[in-house]
Amino acid sequence: MKRNSDELLTFILDSIAKIASLHHQEKLLPELSKMCRDIVFAERCSIWILDKKRKKIWTKVADGVKPIEMNTNVGIVGNAIENNQSLIINDVQNDMRFNSNIDKKTGYLTKTMMVIPMENKSDEVIGAIQVINKQEGDIFSELDLKYLTLAASYAAESIGTILLMEEITQTQKELIYRMGVTGENRSKETGYHVKRVAEYSWLLGKLYGLSLKECDVLRDVSPMHDIGKIGIKDAILNKPGRLDDMEMEIMKTHVQIGYDILDSSDLPLLKAASIVAHEHHEKYDGSGYPNQLEGEDIHIYGRITALADVFDALGSERVYKKAWDDERIFKLFREEKGRHFDPKLIDLFIDNTEQFLAIRDEFTDV
Ligand code: C2E
Ligand code: SIN
Ligand code: SIN
Ligand code: FE
Ligand code: FE
Repeated sequence: MKRNSDELLTFILDSIAKIASLHHQEKLLPELSKMCRDIVFAERCSIWILDKKRKKIWTKVADGVKPIEMNTNVGIVGNAIENNQSLIINDVQNDMRFNSNIDKKTGYLTKTMMVIPMENKSDEVIGAIQVINKQEGDIFSELDLKYLTLAASYAAESIGTILLMEEITQTQKELIYRMGVTGENRSKETGYHVKRVAEYSWLLGKLYGLSLKECDVLRDVSPMHDIGKIGIKDAILNKPGRLDDMEMEIMKTHVQIGYDILDSSDLPLLKAASIVAHEHHEKYDGSGYPNQLEGEDIHIYGRITALADVFDALGSERVYKKAWDDERIFKLFREEKGRHFDPKLIDLFIDNTEQFLAIRDEFTDV
């Protein structure tokens, strides 16, 4: 089994073209590993990613299965990564560095192996490509090493981009959650309010038929709905009694303040958060604020967060009101179906009440 170099280049470029459009590691890593396996006619290929802080490497063996993790100071892959050195080993079972635990776990017999570290643009090692068992009992050659090194440089670039994107997304999520909690702390609302609103919103999204990805986005951003309350002075925000009309007008500006804070960012998650901040007090019949949007002109994230937020607000004690009992809440929801709230969402809520109550029970304030 040999390929000439033109064929090889075509093969790599084809694979790369396909891979370039994959923006998630769940899809990218399997494609890259298939490409690397086929380039050198190996039986298997694993792509190992380095977690620098924890000094661990991990790889996914299959979809839906937990990643395998190893310390970097054991095994051949760890060795290649720590020394940033490619390795061809054609007698694996007799290699001192071999960590036979993995074979025991997978029930696989490793005979030959090649490992190529991957570097990012700053020449830092971000992981390694490992191919196992050259087909037909052959051994890996220097030429195989050369081919796989070429593939590794492409792979490193795609993986580096994805890891960076995931890090940014993770940072955004943390930022959003903390900002949400900050907003709530100001208004003396209890810690689990944002958590519950997030979970109710996820569930409503799921029942409504949003994609899992949208549900996850909504869960991440709905805690931000009241971030604009950080711009409302204490005398109003934490007033023990009813707000008068003037005070209520000031209170209502929290939706615009929140929108302005969030909309100035280009980060996609913050954009989504800005919608929720802006539209969570719009009402289905057009009587809400700030823009009196009507029906499905209100973004689905806004319609969902509105219901989740009010459900939680009514069931909780506030400085200005006692918690309502469930019967009273459901009565209001039935009355407000098609008025305050999207009638479809109210139906879904009523048909699946136990699931919402289960969330409330899971995150009870102490
Ligand atoms: P919040 O306390 O988190 O309430 C969120 C939303 O839940 C309210 O939006 C309203 O739609 C609903 N809600 C909460 N409590 C009640 C209630 O007792 N009855 C009814 N029918 N609905 C209720 P809304 O009205 O736009 O208020 C926005 C925010 O303004 C409230 O958030 C709260 O922070 C503040 N607020 C509203 N009314 C008062 C008040 O009388 N006194 C004080 N101190 N703050 C108020
Ligand atoms: C809340 O924090 O309960 C929400 C209040 C609001 O939506 O204005
Ligand atoms: C309100 O607080 O806005 C109304 C309370 C109620 O309906 O009893
Ligand atoms: Fe609000
Ligand atoms: Fe809220």
